[in-house]
Amino acid sequence: MSLLRTLLLGRENGIRSSIRAMLASSGEAAPDWTPDSAYSAPSYEAPPATTAEQSDRPEPPRDVTPPEGFEVVIHVDALKPGELSEVIAGGTAICVANVDGAFYAIANTCAQGDGPLGEGTLSGFMVTCPYHGWEYDVRDGRCTTTPRLSVQSFEVQLKAQAVCVRL
Ligand code: FES
Repeated sequence: MSLLRTLLLGRENGIRSSIRAMLASSGEAAPDWTPDSAYSAPSYEAPPATTAEQSDRPEPPRDVTPPEGFEVVIHVDALKPGELSEVIAGGTAICVANVDGAFYAIANTCAQGDGPLGEGTLSGFMVTCPYHGWEYDVRDGRCTTTPRLSVQSFEVQLKAQAVCVRL
């Protein structure tokens, strides 16, 4: 029993005894670490899996068969006019934009420094990269900041409530 006590509580003059003495002198109650104590570890509250905004968005419809060569990427109600979103489809990161009810899709990766265009802002047809402000036209992926550069654009079709992108 003495060996078990030493293993659990430490030696008489060991570091755990010193800590208990320090806590006792500071007025704080030393935790009772004996095997029969009612001590329990503080509870950890996990953060919610998604933000409220994300959980409000409808999931991409699963009952829609996309046109040949296309893939369903997002529900039409998941993006309001003037909004952007980044989605992964077929292993490709895509920036989807809703411009006054018309949907467009371009590659999500900025040509300047790999910024996530889907996290940028949309004004008219122009997407602004959140990192350094380069702008792209969502209709064709053309970079208006550096006209010799562009990002890939994807053909978009709507089918029922699904936004479908040709990959
Ligand atoms: S990464 Fe997009 S402007 Fe720099």
